[in-house]
Parts: sequence; C-alpha cells; structure tokens
Amino acid sequence: MCGVMGYAGPEQAAPILLDGLRKLEYRGYDSAGMAVLNDGSIEVKKCRGRLQLLSNLTHDGQDMPGHIGIGHTRWATHGEPSDENSHPHLSNSGRFAIVHNGIIENYQALKDKLISRGYTFHSETDTEVIANMIEYYDQGDLVQTLIKVLHRLEGSYALGVLSVAEPDHFVAVRKDSPLIVGRGEGENFIASDIPAVLNRTRDVYLMGDNEIAVVAADGVRFFNMDAEEVEKDIYHVEWDVSAAEKGGYEHFMMKEIMEQPKALRDTIKPRIKNGRFVLDDLKFDADWLNSLGRIYIVGCGSAYHAGRIGKDLIEKMLSIPVEVDIASEFRYRNPLLGPDQLVIIISQSGETADTLAALREAKKHGARTLGIVNVVGSSIAREADYVLYTWAGPEIAVATTKAYTCQIAALEILTAYLGQETGRLSDDQLQRLQADLLSLPVLLKDQLERPEDVQYLASQFFNCKDIFFIGRALDYSLTLEGSLKLKEISYIHSEASAAGELKHGTISLIQKGTLVIALVTQPRLREKMISNIREVKARGAVVLAVALEDDSAIADTADYVIRIPHVSPDLEPIAGIIPLQLFAYYVAALNGNDVDKPRNLAKSVTVE
Ligand code: G6P
Repeated sequence: MCGVMGYAGPEQAAPILLDGLRKLEYRGYDSAGMAVLNDGSIEVKKCRGRLQLLSNLTHDGQDMPGHIGIGHTRWATHGEPSDENSHPHLSNSGRFAIVHNGIIENYQALKDKLISRGYTFHSETDTEVIANMIEYYDQGDLVQTLIKVLHRLEGSYALGVLSVAEPDHFVAVRKDSPLIVGRGEGENFIASDIPAVLNRTRDVYLMGDNEIAVVAADGVRFFNMDAEEVEKDIYHVEWDVSAAEKGGYEHFMMKEIMEQPKALRDTIKPRIKNGRFVLDDLKFDADWLNSLGRIYIVGCGSAYHAGRIGKDLIEKMLSIPVEVDIASEFRYRNPLLGPDQLVIIISQSGETADTLAALREAKKHGARTLGIVNVVGSSIAREADYVLYTWAGPEIAVATTKAYTCQIAALEILTAYLGQETGRLSDDQLQRLQADLLSLPVLLKDQLERPEDVQYLASQFFNCKDIFFIGRALDYSLTLEGSLKLKEISYIHSEASAAGELKHGTISLIQKGTLVIALVTQPRLREKMISNIREVKARGAVVLAVALEDDSAIADTADYVIRIPHVSPDLEPIAGIIPLQLFAYYVAALNGNDVDKPRNLAKSVTVE
C-alpha cells in the first residue's frame, strides 16, 4: 500500500525516484508522482495510473532538474484515484511538498480548522491537510514545525517533506507505517521498503515511530519528538539485489514458489543444533512456560491460514488450548487475555495495521507476545516480546507463497521447542520431528521440479466461472489458502468449504461441470473425503483431487489427481499447498492477469 521514496545526492533526483518507485510497485498502487526542489521552488509531476505514465510525462525523470526530491505511489483511501488526489501535495503557498503513506484519522477536523483560517484544498486527501498544517505552523525550522504538526495528527504516517526554505535536505518521519533510511556514499534515501534502495546501498536505518530523519546528500541526522538529536545503528542488509529481482522468471510469484526449498531450509536448519531445537531469541522463564494456560494465534489473510494450522499442531502435540483469530476481529471480540497466555502474531511484512493493533491489544492486557515475522526490524518484530523470524528472504509478489510455508515451518519449530522445554514431547517425538523437518526442503525440491501436471490441469480449467475447494482438518485450512490464492490473482470466484459442512449450504451451487478441488492428504480422514467427493460428483461436479503419491485408488473416485510426496501428516500442509499455489499461478497467467500485482490488492496493508 502506497510507496514512499526520497533522494538527496549529487545526481538528478527524479530518475532515481522513479527507479525506487518501480521496486515498490509490488505494494499495490493506482497513481504516482514526484516533487523535486530546484532553484528555490518545488516542481511536482503526478498522474493517475501506472508509473510508466509518470515516466512518460517526465521523460524518465529527465525533465525534472534538481538533486533533492520525494516520490510516491498511491493506493487510494481518501478520494478516488485521480491526478489531483495523487501525491505529492503542495501547501497553499507551494513552499512545502509532502508524500504520505497511512491515514490521518482526524483529518476532517484539521481541514475544517485550516479552511476557517483561509486555506483552500485541491484534493480530497487527508495528506493535503498535513502539507497545509506544516505551512500554518511554520516557525522557520522544519523539524520543529513538523513536531508541532505531529502532535496534532491522529493515525498512521510515513512522511517525506520538502521545504523551499531548506534546500539542502528533506525531512522524513513515520508512525505505524513502514519507512527506512538508506545511507549511501555521498547520497541518502528514504523508502517504504529496502528493495527500493538496494541497488545503491545495503546500509539502512530502520526508523522507529516518531523518529525524525533529516536527509541530506552528505549525511542523515535523527531527532526525537523533543527535537534532541539521537544516534541510530546501521543495519547491513545481507541478501543481495538479486533476491529482490525476477532472476529469469516471468513473475516474482513463480520465482518465490520455486524458492521455497531454500526458504524453508534457511528457516529450519539454524533452529536444529546437536539434536535439539534451539531458539536463542526466545528466553521464556520455565515457571511461566509451565503455567502457560492458553495460546492465541493472530494474523490476516494467509498468515491467518498458517495460524489455523499452528492451532491444530499445538493442540495435538502439546495439549495446550489454542484460539486462532483474524487480526481485524481480534480486538473487537474482547478476547480473555492475561499474563499466563502467549499471543503469537504472524505477519510476513510485520506492518499489517490490524495485526499490529492486535499485538498492542494483547500487550495492553499483559499477555506475552511472540511475532513470527519475515521482515527484519519491522514494527511487529520490534514491538513483540519475542521474535521468531522466517528466513524466506524478500517476498515481492502480492500473493504470498514462500513466506506462508515458512510461517507453517516456524509454527512447527515453535511447537517442537515448547514441547522440548516443557517435557510434553518425548525424545523420540522430537527426533522424528527434526528428521521430518530437515527432509522437507529436499522433498519439495523434487515436487517443484515437475510442475507440468499442474500446468496442464490449469490449461483445462482456466476459464471456469467458479471453483470450489473442500477438505477436512488440516486439509480444510489448506483449502482456505488454496481458494484465496486462486481468487486473488485469477479473479475467478472461489470458495473453500469444510468437506462435511458442504451439505449445509454450499452444495446447492454445485452443478454439472463445476470444478471441485478436493484435498485428501490426511490418511485418517481419507474415507470421509471419498464420501464427500461422491456427494459432489452425484451433482455433476468435476473433481480434481490432491492426494498422497501412494494413494492409487483415489483415481477411481476423482476425475483428475495431483500427487504430493508422502511426508509426515503434520508437514503435509506444506507439501499440499505447492500444487494449489502453482494452479493459481498458471490459471492467472493463462488469463493474462498481472500476477504479481493483482487489482485492488496490496502486499503490505498498512491501514485498518
Ligand atoms: C495482504 C497480502 C497477503 C497477506 C496479508 C497479511 O493481504 O496480500 O498475502 O497474507 O496481507 O500480510 P502480512 O504481511 O501481515 O503477512
């Protein structure tokens, strides 16, 4: 959602801003713009539509001279996508320009006040209010002025601000929306995410809430809300630029699907040492751990689906009750939180607004919080009491794949670790889990080397109007993820149903020729699934089963079968999702869709 980029250095700013914004396209956007300081004034170019339009409008930025600038890709919240509502926004006098990611909740009251003081507005955005507030409170020092304004803002923001009066730098600040500062050689940057600066520097500062950065070509200075200068540590990015590039694949999504064996190996291997599960960052005290009464797992979208699998694993292996919640619902249902509880917060980006709010709610009620997070130094990683990183590497495609499977692996590791530390799992069980986890990347690699069967099936069904998914227990959670993957990128209507629940409503939608994808990867539930497959076939459905490689008899019941390797039932959700990811990918690609940037969706959902 919205991308922010800024540059101060010896080169022309606009082409560099465009380049950075391209790297942020994955976040989702509907318009783009840039503002550059030049010769005592600020020039703004912006338009609705793809970045290419902005690039055409400015001849790849060449038409905008100046060495200091800010850029933006907008995902509309206040006001439709239009040229006027695009960022940057100027203050009335044109002395300040601003780009913003986030939402100012009290913007209407602030806007009314400014209107009563004679200000006029050219857009429907909440952002233009901030530009005019900066002008209204201007005291001649941008940091001081910004602090005054920030005290009056309610909501979330990552801001870049240019001032005509301070032509050597721009100023940036964030609260609850992501922002990093890149430190280069004689040039410095701001960006919503690390890939935007990675081809110029690997040294970044991870901005904390309400830390203010003054970004000039020759250095970056940081201030707190009392205008005192503060020191910040540099974070050196280990992964290289190729990790955030397509590497020969047509889409990031396919590249990320194929990267899963490596991502899983990186997530699993360092956590198993000398026959033990080792999670150095989780310093639980033994008394608390043994009195752990309940676990909550909270996340949005695919992270929530991973959490559902975590619930099944923890309850089965540790006999600790687990509740799993959609983050946007969590704080409105009054969960019974307390100090003897652990709240596991799952998030790839570590910035999802609802998930972050759930974390804060849990902390407010004294529960301990553990983040399963992919982005190092993100808000959730910083605010949770404990962090278990998924080492999936940067994920660019909006539809998550490798981060999702690594979240399940992290939950497996965490379950094993809790079992080990509390003595709830025997040595035998722990050894078996270790062996299963360590063998998983190799099995998946074999599986991914043969995507042709799934590709063929996608070519048979890519023009379906509706696709239904059914499964039981762990397989039901998988159907939710498979159906989400399919609908978000293919735009085909899809529903997932617990197989036994089907006859309580959804079966009325099954007609001759309707495609039903049935997951049959749990041996103990196989016969029940066969009955459910028969039920839909009796109504004319075409059934595509996802089944274990040695289940040859499934072909007697299903019309088509996709085979998955025989891993332990607890790890089956990881092997089972691979064909569903591939199916969604191929169906979307055959429909000619923008697979990595599906319409209306954003990778990092930083508004509630
Ligand atoms: C968006 C993404 C999904 C993701 C969800 C939660 O909807 O498109 O892929 O599962 O947000 O994101 P998070 O970063 O918190 O895992």
